Amino acid sequence: LIGSLLEVRRNRLSFVLRELREHGDAVAFRMGPKRLYLLCHPNHFRHVLSDHPERYAKGIGLAEARPLLGDGLLTSNGELAAAQRQRLQGAFHAERLREIGGQMERALTSMLERWRQAVGRTGTLDIASEMQELTLDVLGSTLLGIDLRGRAGAVAADFAVVTRWAMRRMTALVKLPLAVPTPANLRARAALRRLDQLADEIVRQRRAGGDSAHDLVSSLLAAKGGRLSSKQVRDEILTFLLAGHETTATTLAWTCHLLALHPLVEQRLHGELDRVLGGRFPAPEDLPRLSWTKAVIEEAIRLYPPVWMIPRRALVDDCIAGHNIPAGSDVLLSVYTLHRHPSFWEAADRFIPERFLREAASQPAAGAYLPFGTGPRACLGSRFGMMEATLALAAVGQRYHLEPDPGHRPEPEGSLTLRPRRGLLLRLRERRWPVSGDNA
Ligand code: HEM
Repeated sequence: LIGSLLEVRRNRLSFVLRELREHGDAVAFRMGPKRLYLLCHPNHFRHVLSDHPERYAKGIGLAEARPLLGDGLLTSNGELAAAQRQRLQGAFHAERLREIGGQMERALTSMLERWRQAVGRTGTLDIASEMQELTLDVLGSTLLGIDLRGRAGAVAADFAVVTRWAMRRMTALVKLPLAVPTPANLRARAALRRLDQLADEIVRQRRAGGDSAHDLVSSLLAAKGGRLSSKQVRDEILTFLLAGHETTATTLAWTCHLLALHPLVEQRLHGELDRVLGGRFPAPEDLPRLSWTKAVIEEAIRLYPPVWMIPRRALVDDCIAGHNIPAGSDVLLSVYTLHRHPSFWEAADRFIPERFLREAASQPAAGAYLPFGTGPRACLGSRFGMMEATLALAAVGQRYHLEPDPGHRPEPEGSLTLRPRRGLLLRLRERRWPVSGDNA
């Protein structure tokens, strides 16, 4: 009667891995009355995301997150989504990104100062929550015009409560409306209320201060192309806060974890940082010369793609890899498995950043590497996220050696993102690094 529901509920990630390992690149399974299709071949991704995006809407999981994200860009479809993308992409154009990169220095400096004091005491930090605070601080100060210092931890916790609630509903046998006062609903409602207040505060501050900024909030409030309702503005603010913090934070957490396990990769990173930066704080102009730093991140999100699963719902009957997909079915594109597919990756489970260097003997196969999705709904913040991750890793690598915490085994949890289930504890040891005269 319930199909694979309990197994999915117990551990989504291990269910997906086992099914695809045992049954090939396309697997159909049931969860209660629903039939779902798990897919992991590059051709499947191309079919759904690039060749026929009009046949699919955003799917399961994202749909459950609607109380949080409403009709924001991550969850919306059709003409609404196309208009919103067009309206918002100006906040990410190349010139603006260079400015944003410069503004990231302040948030990075605050984080490093916090670490200096904490590491002095204990030497061990939960890198996952530290990175969440960093990425929220960066989003607040660069895109949303709000200072989240001191409250980023609480905001991240509220997002975690609501996304876990949404993910659990995906496999719930009975879905009680949010208005029913169960303990889980009450927790989710309280977190949603605080997030709503944050979105309000962002808009109020902007209206009170006049709009001289050129960020995401100004694109949302500008009348160009028709005024947005206050609900739509709220939905986009919370969408960008979620999509823009959790993904980059997870990227940085897993990258640090892999560096701690691979001292030779870390040594090469330190060599590049010392050579290119000579003790200066990393800046956007340095990015073209930080090719190893970037390759380390690219390889980390191959092994631990923050968006590990891309869900869609079929709007019409379709056929993929010989499977008839009736309209209304859920299709799950497994990025995690695509990135470790033995037909497309040699030593697929090993951490080998060299694969992503321009001079590598062979380049990743077309369509086998999609950390940012593909097609008309690919990530809008991919360049923002990569720039932030590279500058942050450079700033951390300049100052610290990372080592595993012997008592802690990080484990990926297949939630809305692939976050570390119980945080990610690492030991940090200060490096001796060259200091230049000016802004080091
Ligand atoms: C390393 C960091 C990131 C990764 C791996 C990532 C990954 C993704 C992926 C795979 C999608 C496609 C989802 C789908 O097709 O349903 C997506 C969508 C999106 N991302 Fe990112 N993302 C990252 C950073 C960011 C940042 C920093 C922002 C904003 C500042 C952002 C904003 C968005 C938005 C708004 C969408 C929805 C686009 C649409 O549906 O049209 N992302 N992201």
